[in-house]
Amino acid sequence: MIVLGVESSCDETGIALYDTQHGLLSHALHSQVAMHEQYGGVVPELASRDHIRRAIPLLEQVLAGAHIDRHQIDAIAYTQGPGLAGALLVGASVACGLGLALDRPVLGVHHLEGHLLSPLLASEPPTFPFVALLVSGGHTQLMRVDGVGQYALLGETLDDAAGEAFDKSAKLLGLGYPGGPAISRLAEFGDPSVYQLPRPMLHSKDLNFSFSGLKTAVLTLVKKQTTNLCEQDKANIARAFVDALVDVLLAKCLTAMKQTGLKRLVIAGGVGANSQLRNALNAAAQKRRFQVYYPELEFCTDNGAMIAFAGAMRLQLKPEAAQRDYAFNV
Ligand code: KG4
Ligand code: ZN
Repeated sequence: MIVLGVESSCDETGIALYDTQHGLLSHALHSQVAMHEQYGGVVPELASRDHIRRAIPLLEQVLAGAHIDRHQIDAIAYTQGPGLAGALLVGASVACGLGLALDRPVLGVHHLEGHLLSPLLASEPPTFPFVALLVSGGHTQLMRVDGVGQYALLGETLDDAAGEAFDKSAKLLGLGYPGGPAISRLAEFGDPSVYQLPRPMLHSKDLNFSFSGLKTAVLTLVKKQTTNLCEQDKANIARAFVDALVDVLLAKCLTAMKQTGLKRLVIAGGVGANSQLRNALNAAAQKRRFQVYYPELEFCTDNGAMIAFAGAMRLQLKPEAAQRDYAFNV
């Protein structure tokens, strides 16, 4: 079965073809980062209009890349939500329009399920069951995953998501958008002994998170400076921020591993690309003898491959989940 995946929940248009026999056939992505950069964040109306411009050319590109004709597509999966309403509507319209034209079933996929299953696209994928840490721009969740569709929430953020804390703190430091990669790069040059920031909920005994206080602590540090922040000050604050956030994520992952007794930890979502987080998790995994898995770097942030894959897994499990009345909802 060949499934076309369409992702358009935010500022990336992603299209991909996944074959349940041969794996990922081809994928293409257009990032709108350059367009939104000057506004310091995503402008929803511009995002929707750009998805409209990009979707069909990207579709042509993946079909050519996979050397298949559009009539060979067996089903279409699109991101149903959560996301920006206008942006989601573009992907849903493209998917349902294609479904109608090709007389193929269409399936709405939950964006977070796409992220959650994206590590299974890697060359050495984890097997079920595993603990998953989902760290994206909008969500921070710990889950027990026993199979496709079998997800138990263990804990989540009570306020800001990890990626949101990265982006907001980066903005306070005058770094560009998206802030995650920028603050991470800068932190490499920071001196860890200069500033200490709080580790919210580190000892809360549950598996929930809270990152808004950490962002406020960055704001307080920035405001305290009497002169303009020099590059080294910024790097020191970035380092203190990353160290605090990584400490909390690591501690909660270790508690989740202990509580569940599982030996596989899977990281998913944009913050999963973070090198400091990966280094800390890899060291802990080696010391405590568990396995840690990540998506390929290109599939950490939003992409069409994870939606095609999640759609294919869902359809294999429950073919009747796909619809042919094309009354999409997002
Ligand atoms: O999963 P994703 O593409 O979007 C949502 O579904 O929300 O994640 C985007 C988030 C942004 O907040 C971005 O700053 C963060 O992931 N991010 C990173 C890195 N790369 C992306 N955060 C820290 N370090 C990175 N290298
Ligand atoms: Zn995402």
